[in-house]
Amino acid sequence: MALTGKRILLIISGGIAAYKSFDLIRRLRERGASVRPIMTRAAQEFVTPLAVGALSASHVYVDLFSREDEQDVGHIRLARENDLVVVAPASADLMAKMAHGLADDLASAVLLATDRPVLIAPAMNPKMWAAPATRRNAETLKADGIHFIGPMAGEMAESNEAGIGRMAEPLEIVAAVERLLDGTAKPLAGKTAIVTSGPTHEPIDPVRYIANRSSGRQGHAIAAALARLGADVTLISGPVTIPDPSGVKAVHVERAEEMLDAVLSRLPADIAVMVAAVADWRVASSAEQKIKKRPGEVPPPLQLAENPDILKTVGHHDRRPKLVVGFAAETQDIEKNGRAKLERKGADMIVANDVSPETGIMGGSRNRVKIISAHGIDEWPDLGKDEVAERLAQLIAERLTGA
Ligand code: CTP
Repeated sequence: MALTGKRILLIISGGIAAYKSFDLIRRLRERGASVRPIMTRAAQEFVTPLAVGALSASHVYVDLFSREDEQDVGHIRLARENDLVVVAPASADLMAKMAHGLADDLASAVLLATDRPVLIAPAMNPKMWAAPATRRNAETLKADGIHFIGPMAGEMAESNEAGIGRMAEPLEIVAAVERLLDGTAKPLAGKTAIVTSGPTHEPIDPVRYIANRSSGRQGHAIAAALARLGADVTLISGPVTIPDPSGVKAVHVERAEEMLDAVLSRLPADIAVMVAAVADWRVASSAEQKIKKRPGEVPPPLQLAENPDILKTVGHHDRRPKLVVGFAAETQDIEKNGRAKLERKGADMIVANDVSPETGIMGGSRNRVKIISAHGIDEWPDLGKDEVAERLAQLIAERLTGA
């Protein structure tokens, strides 16, 4: 069966379309999925927890402050212990709460706490769907990576008004669930990816080097996220103190020139994501022996030479990967500099971020990025580096497979 073993958390919010959740539960279970329902207070005005519980063969969760439920699973586990969260029907009110991060009842708290994909099936009066506030909320939710099915055009149940607002039919929702669970499986299966990460160390002599503050967290997280989507990933990392992520082939290098060789030796590949903070310069001729200080003499000058630009080399290579992604670490004019880098380096996408010291991004665990590409500029909210990685991997999969 198509959904065998899949765990669906079904959130039912208020609306006449709530009666369709009976059929939805039945269709999901027929295909082998288990369904755990949450109902909002408004939903219980339309259908009863008793009926929903009987059809789903599950306890129905309704209250954020229920002592038994919180001890039993708790809203955080409810949010996580599933493969997909489906909101059907999704009312205008619940969408507004989601868009603004409200968490004043069980449904909204779980939606805020979940790290699973979320599919919503909006259902509301056409005027409510067309209202500017709902338009804004829908845009926000889409930008946040929430998946939509519907609403559809047609007759409304409660009036003879027609327009866009009718909830998708249960079988349409099931098809979207199957696509998503399949899609979340392995959209990058059979694709190869090269990811660079971390700083480079450019030796001055056998004991000294020039380095930068990169921790490798973002690059490592991206390598792991691409691997989770099924890509065969080679992570080429400069010296870092974090462990190699599981599921990737890790290659450790020190200098920019070594990193370039490692990257080129892995071409051809489908995807290249150059995240490393490669040192722009190396010491022109690093000393073979430790440079000794000589009392009374002026300190030795450091003659620098330019390092190869790995991203630019890959972006213009005759075995160029189909999708080349670079990063732009900026402290000012982020968009302008990002666009210029897209051009100059021959990349398809630049992930630009502000690394001014006050942002705490370099070496920190969070990131706030803008995605610059021929499609325009997309600004992502402040996210953990793992979330940035997850979204970027999804975006790469979409751009590569045209999905
Ligand atoms: N990069 C690279 N090789 C280099 C320098 C940079 O592959 N020698 C890559 C980085 O991995 C990143 C992108 O190029 O994907 C942008 O690097 P950044 O240091 O921000 O830009 P620069 O080209 O060095 O430009 P500037 O110093 O003027 O900001």
